[in-house]
Parts: sequence; C-alpha cells; structure tokens
Amino acid sequence: MSDQKKPPSQISKLIPTYASRGENLEIPKNQLPEKSMLPSTAYQVIHDELRLDGYSMLNLATFVTTWMEDEAQKLINETLDKNMVDRDEYPQTAEIEQRCIRMTAELWNAPDHENAVGTSTIGSSEAAMLGGMAMKWRWREKRRAENKSTEKPNLVMGANVQVCWHKFCRYWDIEPREVPCEGDRFTLNAEETLKYVDENTIGVVAIMGSTFDGRYEPVEEISDALDRHEKETGLDIPIHVDGASGGFVAPFLQPEIKWDFRLPRVKSINASGHKYGLVYPGVGWVIFRDKDALPEDLIFHVSYLGGDMMDLSINFSRPGNRVVAQYYNFLRLGREGYTRIHQASQRVALSLSEGIGALEPFDLITDGSDIPVFCWKMNDEYARNASFTLYDIAEKLRERGWLVPAYPMPQNRHDLVVQRVVVKEDFSMDVAQMLLQDIKRAIEFFESRPQNPPKTEGSHFSH
Ligand SMILES: Cc1ncc(COP(=O)(O)O)c(C=O)c1O
Repeated sequence: MSDQKKPPSQISKLIPTYASRGENLEIPKNQLPEKSMLPSTAYQVIHDELRLDGYSMLNLATFVTTWMEDEAQKLINETLDKNMVDRDEYPQTAEIEQRCIRMTAELWNAPDHENAVGTSTIGSSEAAMLGGMAMKWRWREKRRAENKSTEKPNLVMGANVQVCWHKFCRYWDIEPREVPCEGDRFTLNAEETLKYVDENTIGVVAIMGSTFDGRYEPVEEISDALDRHEKETGLDIPIHVDGASGGFVAPFLQPEIKWDFRLPRVKSINASGHKYGLVYPGVGWVIFRDKDALPEDLIFHVSYLGGDMMDLSINFSRPGNRVVAQYYNFLRLGREGYTRIHQASQRVALSLSEGIGALEPFDLITDGSDIPVFCWKMNDEYARNASFTLYDIAEKLRERGWLVPAYPMPQNRHDLVVQRVVVKEDFSMDVAQMLLQDIKRAIEFFESRPQNPPKTEGSHFSH
C-alpha cells in the first residue's frame, strides 16, 4: 500500500516540508536512508519531532533533574567525549569521580571517608544492584563458612520498592520478600521487617524517599529492631539504604535523622546524582561502609596512571560528563547551596500540598515534609458521587502540558489511587500557583458535567 493510503501511524517515511529549500527528501523512518542529507536538515527533522515531547519543567512525574546552570551545561558539552571507563586515559575525570565518592561518603557519615569505597554508576538502579550483589555475596560467604545451604537467599523490603529491586531479585535469583502495605501504612516498618527475616535473608532494603509517596522509611527503628533480633537469634542482617531520592536531601534538610553510616548496620547506600543530586540524567552513586562491606570477588582492577584502580560496575562504557557535572554541583553549591535549593523546593511542596489538601475533593497522604514530593487521594465521601477520578484530573491537566501522574498504591492497597507531584528546583512558587489554578479549573470542569463517566484507569504510569 502506498503511504498516501495508510493511516498516519503507519506511514514509514518522514517528509519534511522545508526540505525543498535544499533537498527534496523522503526520509525512511525505520531503515537506514540510502543517501546522506545536510546536517541542518537532519537537525531540523529531529528537533521538530522532539518538540512534541513537551516541556520538561511541567513534568512533575519525574524525579530526574530538568534544569542545570549554563556553566554546568558548558562543562557537560566540553566533556561529552569522555568515557568514564577510560580511567587510565582520562585520569582527571577518574580523579574527579574519586573526589565525588569521598565527598558523598563524608556526607553520609562513612567511618573513613578519605578511604571511601564506592563508585559512580549510570543511575540508582545499577547502584542498587551493586549494593544488592554485595549483600548476596557476603551472605553466601558466611553460609559457606558455616557449611550451610546457599540455595535460597531472600531479600526483605517494603512492597513500595522501586522496580529496580524486583529486577535485582529476578536477575540474581533471590526470593523477594515484600512486606505489603496495610491500611494507611505504605512503607516498611520495624515490626513487620522482623516477621519476614530469617537465616536466608541477605539483607533488608530501607528506602529514604519512597517513590510512591515521598516518605522516609524508619531506618533507625529497623536497625534497632535488627539489633535486638541479632541478640536473640545470632543472625546479623545488614541494611542497604535505597536513597535514590533522599540520599541527597536528608543530609541537608533533616541532618538529625539517623539513616546513614551512623548506623553500624547500614553497609551500603545508593543515590541518584540525577535526582536531588541535581545533575541531568545519567549518574548514580553507591557507597559502601568500608572495605569489609564489599567482597573482593566483585571488584575488577583497572590500571590507572600506572597504578591500580577499583572497577565495580555492571555497565562498561558510560558518559564521564555526568560525573563532571556532579562535581560541578558539589563545588558550586556546597552544603549551603544544596540546603538552600532543597529548602526552596520544600517550601513550594508544602505550600502546594496545603493548597491541594484544602480542596474539597482531595485528602493529602503526604505533604512533602520528607523529600519535596507529596501525594493525595480522593476524599472518600466526595468520591461516592463524583463524576471524575484522579485519572480524569491527570488527563485534564495534560491538556495544559502538566504531567501529574495518578496510579494505584502497591500490593494490598491497589484499591487506593493517588496523584503525586515531585517538586524540583525549576518548579517555582509562581508556577505551583498556576498548577493549583489548573487543578481547580479541572474540578470545576468535571463538576459542571455530572454525567461524565469517571475513568477507572489512566495512562500506564510506571515509576
Ligand atoms: C526509591 C528508588 N529507587 C531506585 C530508583 C531507580 O533510580 P534510577 O532511575 O536512578 O535508576 C528510583 C527511581 O525513581 C527510586 O525512586
């Protein structure tokens, strides 16, 4: 069938209108073009298509940084060609990575940050896998030394874990033991943790900044409970903290909360540099408490300035420029700057959540006082006669460009649908007020249409 007769989604060629100026092209979409084209044409075709992605500042679904300073962008552009894995070839990029590791270890109160053990990664998922592998390896070594079976390792975590932990368990053949939500408890707690651990538990994952509602899990309480459990049973169960979002928030906004290496049971921590570390997508970190927390067997050695450097990674090549950008932020902002920026985001989150919580149809679940992320649900009574759900609100807001996802809570509370906002640096109080106005308008729209059939599901938002 010729392209003219096909529906638009099946047309297999890009036909740029302006091409007639220098070129008259039909560009295949799904196969390599036979001929070359001018760089300006290729640029324009791609540029125009990407404009349909929308405006990332309005993407309140993502945790990932959507704005960096010009100077950071300049450094990113200058170092686009650096492969992070070429440590011997790019020794200063490697040195900068080491400095970031030491700074992060110090931020998380590692006992000896000058000799910090860790690595940059492509994101928290890779970092979490490395932390998880260390737990599995250490458990296995101990079990072998005791002549016990190593066949059935399990990992204990809340049902609210991010999908990277499901992947970790599946890829590394570990039984996931997910503590379900119960009533209004959407995170792991100490009491429930103890019901799920046994001699085959490689570790417990506690989250600082749950993806579903932005809450911190009570790491210290979980750690204390595991201390008591060790006294009773002799089982020494480590904690890995998934600080994907909160790892670069809690040290600045809630320095009094003990969740990091101040707790001896915490053996490793991951965080996304590209979330509240304030770097564009492509960098994460995993830091181990000390050398003992990272089995030698997981480490590869690469040559570096004639010496030896640890290589711990799942990926091989990846961009070095995001590590450079992280270092830029560390130097440029310091503790003062990170504190100021996150405080500002939190003020926006608290103010907007207050505004949303005051609307009749909604009840707040979290208000953004842990990480600047909050969510709300429909008020039960209002929902009984409402002509809309949070899925309708999400769709209506999309017409204005806002991406504010609605989704069900995890296992055991799938019945509860919430809507979430992630406040980032580029989301100002002023813009937040505009969102609030648009939410009010969306409510008015549906209230004026009592016959509207409420949606029971939305676009398939995945965390
Ligand atoms: C708690 C948590 N862990 C892990 C991840 C995965 O992080 P990344 O996207 O950096 O791989 C996320 C992402 O949102 C998260 O919220």
